[in-house]
Amino acid sequence: MCGIVGYIGPEGAAPILMDELSRLEYRGYDSAGISTIEKNKISIMKDVGRVKNLYNLDGIDDLTGTIGIAHTRWATHGKPSKENSHPHQDNSKTFSVVHNGIIENFHELRNMLEENGYNFLSQTDTEVIPNLIHYHYSKLQDNSVHGFLQAVRNCCLDLKGSFAIEVISSLFPENMIVVRKDSPLVIGTCEDEKYISSDIPAILSYTRDFYFLNDLEFALLQNNKATFFDTNLHEINKQTNNIEWTATASEKNGYEDFMLKEIYEQPTAIRETIGSKISIDSKCNFEELNFTKEYLSTIDKIYIIACGTAMHAGLAGKNVIEKLCRIPVEVDIASEFRYRSPIVNEKTLSIFISQSGETADTIAALKLAKHCGSKTIAISNVIGSSITREANYSIYTHAGPEIAVASTKAYTSQVILLNMLAVYFSEILETSDKDTIISIKKEMLDLPKKIEETFSCKDSIKEFAKKIYQEKDVFFLGRGIDETIAKEASLKLKEISYIHSESYAAGELKHGSIALIENGVTVVTVLMDKSLMEKTISNVQEVISRGAKTLVITCHPCDSNMFDEIITVPYTIQYLSPILAIIPLQLLAYYISKEKGLDVDKPRNLAKSVTVE
Ligand code: F6R
Repeated sequence: MCGIVGYIGPEGAAPILMDELSRLEYRGYDSAGISTIEKNKISIMKDVGRVKNLYNLDGIDDLTGTIGIAHTRWATHGKPSKENSHPHQDNSKTFSVVHNGIIENFHELRNMLEENGYNFLSQTDTEVIPNLIHYHYSKLQDNSVHGFLQAVRNCCLDLKGSFAIEVISSLFPENMIVVRKDSPLVIGTCEDEKYISSDIPAILSYTRDFYFLNDLEFALLQNNKATFFDTNLHEINKQTNNIEWTATASEKNGYEDFMLKEIYEQPTAIRETIGSKISIDSKCNFEELNFTKEYLSTIDKIYIIACGTAMHAGLAGKNVIEKLCRIPVEVDIASEFRYRSPIVNEKTLSIFISQSGETADTIAALKLAKHCGSKTIAISNVIGSSITREANYSIYTHAGPEIAVASTKAYTSQVILLNMLAVYFSEILETSDKDTIISIKKEMLDLPKKIEETFSCKDSIKEFAKKIYQEKDVFFLGRGIDETIAKEASLKLKEISYIHSESYAAGELKHGSIALIENGVTVVTVLMDKSLMEKTISNVQEVISRGAKTLVITCHPCDSNMFDEIITVPYTIQYLSPILAIIPLQLLAYYISKEKGLDVDKPRNLAKSVTVE
């Protein structure tokens, strides 16, 4: 949902900004722009389309300033066009701004500014910001940098909605002000340079030391100095956080696409996420939580809240937590939960899953649950992300940076972490027998090896993708845990191949949807739960009789003559089956997208981190 970057230091800003921007393009890619300061004058260059278009703009090589801001856009207000691209400046061309988020009261602010003589050149909500800063600055009798800071702060207090903002000014060419509220932004630092970005991976090749801002904290940045202020502009201290991710973790490293690389990183992601928390001889250890039997015994419901793929991981979590801990678990979509007046109180434990940790709906849902008295746990892949700062407790997947828009390794890491959490709760509550727990732990520890083995299905999947890539509809079926896998597989296919796909609980099909099955339609079925296999196979027979082409994913022996294609993955227990069964289905979506010649990593209309409602 838009990416913003910034640089201030001794080097020319433009090449650094464009490099940062190209690494952040997964956040939005319908237009891009850059602004630097040369000889006390603001320059702005922008265009529709991808970041690479900026390199071809006339005059881009003349941007020699050592301070700059840049933006890659995912349009919300106003279509993708040059006028609507960021950066935006005020009428006097004194302040230049990039913004990620949504200004909800921009109509009212725009009317107020128009009444005061300001003109607007774009349809964006953002354009009110530089003009509002100018409005406040011109009212202050303070021409010092403190006046600049005060004007930005007064502007931010007028804004409703979410924003991460970077501001530069021709009046203060050696200063940049950044601020965030409900939108992500990090400040990387090293000696006499400051790098600003919406996400950590975009600037990992420059620094691994970061400052994190809380809502409505302001940073005044100069080459060799970062000064922080609270909302009342009282100076505050901030420590840097060292991030363990390496710069190569956010490179393709020889893979054609990030998505393929990330699929192949899953054994490592699972190993790292398990870390030292699981061992056969000792209890599962979540020091970050430190829950007691006394507390867990008071819990009468667990809510798992997330969006998209993370919500699908939550469904796998429900299955294992309910079975091992005997606590009812409700899984909800964050954007629904927050408006349904959910029944949440101090007896509810609420778990929020977000790879990015910045999804607006998930953060809002978390705030609501906290307000209702529930303890909240954030599961995120990004240390210091907004969700982790809001929650009572945070636990992390260690999948490394996920750059492809379609989530793969984050999903499987979330599923393993939820399984670990279920074991942890169950060991405290003593709700499962020791042998069950030991066998789950053994299976968890064996998973990375089994994922490696699963990759051997690659060629068969590639061949199957060639057969079906031109289809208009694909259906996914499963029962129980297999239905949750079908849901995730269906989402993966539609988002990167643009093929319409649906997932169904296998037994539900004949209550209406089977009417859609006709000669040649592809039906993919997940058969990982042995206890439900026979029933689901009967449903597959029903679609075969109506002419469907079938692909089956299973870890059990199966009559191969029955289906057009069977992919057999290594056996695992049903709690962990989403992790193995999704691998061939991630590869299926990937190879279909490649066969269609699409941009796998940056599918149309999507962005990696959904920081608006
Ligand atoms: C799909 C996908 C999305 C995300 C969803 C939540 O492949 O990536 O459905 O899972 O937007 O994102 P996070 O986990 O960052 O909150």
